[in-house]
Amino acid sequence: MNKDTRVDWGPEIEEQFERQASWTLFFRNEIYRKIGLTKAKHILEIGCGMGTITKELRKRTSAKITSIDSDEEMIEVAKKRVDDVEFFVENVENLTLKDNKYDVVVFQYLLLWVKNPIKAMKEIYRVCKKKGHVAALAEPDYGGWVEYPEMNLGKKHIEYLREEGADPLAGRKILSYFESAGFKTEVSVIAQTWNQENLLCNIEEEWKRILNADLISQKEFDQLVRKEKDLINQNRRTIFIPVFTAIGRKS
Ligand SMILES: C[S@@+](CC[C@H](N)C(=O)[O-])C[C@H]1O[C@@H](n2cnc3c(N)ncnc32)[C@H](O)[C@@H]1O
Repeated sequence: MNKDTRVDWGPEIEEQFERQASWTLFFRNEIYRKIGLTKAKHILEIGCGMGTITKELRKRTSAKITSIDSDEEMIEVAKKRVDDVEFFVENVENLTLKDNKYDVVVFQYLLLWVKNPIKAMKEIYRVCKKKGHVAALAEPDYGGWVEYPEMNLGKKHIEYLREEGADPLAGRKILSYFESAGFKTEVSVIAQTWNQENLLCNIEEEWKRILNADLISQKEFDQLVRKEKDLINQNRRTIFIPVFTAIGRKS
């Protein structure tokens, strides 16, 4: 991720991340149940970022948790937020971790940012224990973005993500990535529109990414955000983005 367009960590951001995470908690609970999270002895989390999922994992299990991220600054932030977790700077495409070590491997919003996702999944397969599980908790697919009225927020996101080196269509590819690495895989889609609270909390941040990537001017940003807030307050704004999840099992 480009450092200029990345959000800086602070208490409000932490609160915002946790609120966002709470909206998809129902789906994560189902995944955690299916992969036997509470029975796992050693969990690996990849692309932990600021540690939002790390914190959730730490609260739910007594397993040993190792969380990694390729960005040293993210690891420093996560370390300050979550205790009793082993943190490392590691690139998922070239892990220095041992073979067949982890019962459970999880990640969220990762594969869209990884340069070679098949190489990454092969590394995950290598470090996952036999009969262990890997779970993609959420991987969005911006190609399936639906919005009304059309304000081109979805199209601008695709443009911004491509400029940042991410793959906006990663969601639809996860089944293929998992199976290419050797996992027996089950894929689902989280199909819910953003509710009014979600829209009000996020809409400015969503357009700010587009502004920071120089895809709109400050004047356009101000007008768009004003229009968005009017529409949302009148409950006339719809945004939907399919978010894929996957569970893979190593035989
Ligand atoms: C969108 S953030 C998601 C953070 C966290 N999983 C969450 O849901 O809040 C993606 C994270 O993946 C990390 N990342 C990107 N490429 C990576 C790689 N090749 N290896 C490890 N981490 C990577 C980034 O540094 C970033 O912290």
